[in-house]
Formats: sequence, structure tokens, C-alpha cells
Amino acid sequence: MSVTAVIGSQWGDEGKGKVVDYLAERADFVARFNGGNNAGHTVINGFGTFKIHLVPSGIFARNTTALIGGGVVIDPAVLIEEIELLNKAGVGVDGRLWVSPRSHLIMPYHKILDGLYEEAKGAGATGTTRRGIGPVFADKVSYNGIRWTDFASEAFESRLQMQLVLKNKIITALGGEALKYEDVRETYRGFYAKLKPYTKELFPLVQDGLKTNKHFLLEQAMGTFLDTDWGTYPFVTASTTIPSAASAGLGIPPRYITDVVGVTKAYTTRVGAGPLPTEIHDVESDVYKKFAEVAATTGRTRRVGWLDLEIVRTAAQLSGVTELCLTKLDVLSGLNEIQVCVGYKMNGNAVTYADVDAYGLGEVECVYQTFKGWSEDISKAKSFDELPVNAQTYVTMIEGAAGVPVKWIGVGPERAATIRR
Ligand code: GDP
Ligand code: IMO
Ligand code: MG
Repeated sequence: MSVTAVIGSQWGDEGKGKVVDYLAERADFVARFNGGNNAGHTVINGFGTFKIHLVPSGIFARNTTALIGGGVVIDPAVLIEEIELLNKAGVGVDGRLWVSPRSHLIMPYHKILDGLYEEAKGAGATGTTRRGIGPVFADKVSYNGIRWTDFASEAFESRLQMQLVLKNKIITALGGEALKYEDVRETYRGFYAKLKPYTKELFPLVQDGLKTNKHFLLEQAMGTFLDTDWGTYPFVTASTTIPSAASAGLGIPPRYITDVVGVTKAYTTRVGAGPLPTEIHDVESDVYKKFAEVAATTGRTRRVGWLDLEIVRTAAQLSGVTELCLTKLDVLSGLNEIQVCVGYKMNGNAVTYADVDAYGLGEVECVYQTFKGWSEDISKAKSFDELPVNAQTYVTMIEGAAGVPVKWIGVGPERAATIRR
């Protein structure tokens, strides 16, 4: 039996989707446990190129059973679209994708409120994905949520009616347009008809899997520093993202988690507002152009920065990371020099991530160390020994700083472009 959690050690988009797809070959169960369709996980393999929001990225491995745990919030329209897309691509999800009845439904008013709150906050906005994530989790913990299980019961209509009375008042007060009960009900009835075959209580499946020594691969959404408690609050997402969330989100006791893979991008990116100490602001610079990415869910431009070792080190400690997977090393090829933040200073004194809040983190001064770059294209490298010596030094420097070995190195976006050490 093994339970491996794959987590991002920065602000999301570290390449978790690619890594889960790569590791899924030896998994029996692949599962999502937190977040919702704010996630955008890119997978490139023999089936094609996919940006997946809800279905676990390990679905492509034929023998896996894919679980969407109760800790996940789901926009049914997005899930239906994703299932259709995967089936069309020949991935075959029917009979091996199960959604927990404990998961919460993202309703149209959650998306509307997400947008209205963001607009009302103006310059102080979070820069959310506007997928309704904050409002649906707020409803979950304030006993106002509508769960997947309600979909199937009489309760759905009465809960929806009651919620619309409340939500329409807020929506109209903020200048939005009220939703009509009949419209929402009919739309969601249609969704349920399509999604009923994928609904199953996961408890017996998970318990049986643990008893019979199955291999579980748990895929985090977002990243460590978007975690509601440990991230850069209030510039975070609305769910717990660290591995403890996998326990609540799937019903796996914490002591069963055997491995935690920390996916770390060779530089740093962030989407939305909030501190990014190593941020590169010069959009005309070569390094900015090299690092720039387009967000998988919203199509926004990701903010970029140099690698921040204080962030990676903190994530490794917080989540008990056992191995690192360093992604996008190939992107650094062609830089003469690479800057790495090795620590922070504030008013001349050394400070750690834990010493400051999000606003303090926005003020810290980064202490940089400069590393020599390499000019070779490394995207075809198959082993660590084939990497230029400066690239090897970069890798060993990271594992030294994080105190965790780098077991895999990504040298391209495709599943196969992965070096195992
Ligand atoms: P996730 O949200 O953590 O799954 O990451 P995203 O898919 O949102 O963003 C990661 C981006 O990096 C995607 O465009 C991936 O295709 C790409 N990617 C992942 N690993 C590598 C790598 O090792 N090299 C390169 N060049 N691209 C990678
Ligand atoms: P994956 O799983 C990067 C960010 C948003 C925003 C904040 C809150 O692909 O790594 P939300 O819509 O969750 O209320 O937005 O969190 N965010 C992500 N950033 N990758 C993600 O997911 C993200 N999911 C949410 O940009 O700053
Ligand atoms: Mg992403």
C-alpha cells in the first residue's frame, strides 16, 4: 500500500498535472481532494494535449480508478464537458470515474457573487478565477451549501429555493440581476441526469483499497502558498491545499499518507494578486519573456519571478515533502546567469516566511545568489548525467536548500520529457 500526495510547493501551476500523469502508471487510484475547477492542469501524452480542471490527471493510465473527493467543489457543466472531451479522445472514463456525493455544487449564484465581490473590492481584489470558489466554500462552512447528494433528493428544490431568496437579495444589492428559480432548477436537473452514473459514495472503495494494499495517487489543486491558512492570506484560495486536506477530502486517515511529492518549478509564477518577492517586473526583459506563461483556466498572463528557496523550503517542511520533482528546468537554458533567492531581509534583519504576513512578504528584500547558466538545449536529456554541469549544480543546490532529494526533473511539457534519478 502506498498513498502519495502530489503537491505544488509554490503558488500553483508547478506542473502537477504532468507529474501526476507521469506517476499514474503504477497507481490503482488517482484522486482530487481539494479546490474545484479553478484548477487547470496541463497533460500532454499520447492521447493529446489537455487542460484538466476536475477529473484527476491520472485518468489516462488505463488501470486507474479516478475519484473526485468530497473536499472538491464542482461546476457540473465543467465536469460534463470534461467527461465528454476525455471520452471523445478515447480515454474511456465511464465505469472508473466516481464523484463523492459529499462534494459541493457550484451554483450560478456562486459565480455571479465571485465576480461582484471582486468588482466591489476594486484595487484590493484577489484576482480570483471567478469560478465561484470563494462563495461556494463560504456556503459550505456556513451550512448554506448544496451538495451532490442533494442533487438526487427532494431537498434540492427546497434548498435551492431558500438559497435563491438569500442570494438574489445580495446579487441585486450589488447591482447584479436576480436568478430565476425555474431556470436554475431545470438546468441542474439536466446536469444531474448526465452525471448520475458517475456518482458513488467513496468510503467503501477507499477503505477497501487501503486494506488490499492498493496504490493511491492524490493530486492537489492550487499550491502551498494559496492554502487558506498557510498561504499569503487574503491572497489565497478558499480551500486547504496542504496534504492534510487529502485526509478530510477523501476519508484517508493521515497516518496512511506514505509519500509527499513536492512539485517545484525551476522559477516562480503566480496568477492573481498578492506578494511575489522575486517578481520580475521588466516585461521587455529576455528573462521575463522566457518565463511568461498563459494560465490554463483563465488565459491570464502569469506573473513571473526567480526561484525562491525560502518558499520551497517552507513548503517542504509544512507538507513533509519526501521527494521533489523539479519542473521546467529546460526553460532556464540560454540564460547566462540565474538568480536564486536564498533568504529574506527586513530592516536589515533576516526573516523567514513564517515571520511575516502577506503584506510583510510584499516588503521583504530578497537575498540573491547568482548561479551560472547553460546554453545547451536539455529537452532531449534522458539522464541526470546528460545535463550540463551548471544545470546539475542548480538541481543539487535546490535539494540541499530544501533538505529533500530531487527525484524527477522535467525537461519539457510532455509526459516523456522527465528524468528520473
Ligand atoms: P499545474 O496546474 O500544476 O498542473 O500546472 P499547469 O499545467 O497550470 O502549468 C504548468 C505549465 O508548464 C503547463 O503549460 C505544462 O505543460 C508546462 N510544463 C510542465 N512541466 C514542464 C517541464 O518540465 N518543461 C516545460 N517546458 N514545460 C512544462
Ligand atoms: P492549479 O491547480 C494558480 C489563484 C487565483 C487567485 C486565487 C483565488 O492549476 O495550480 P479562486 O478562484 O481560487 O478563488 O482564486 O487563487 N488560483 C490559482 N493560481 N493555479 C491554480 O490552480 C489556481 N487556482 C486558484 O489566481 O489568485
Ligand atoms: Mg494550473
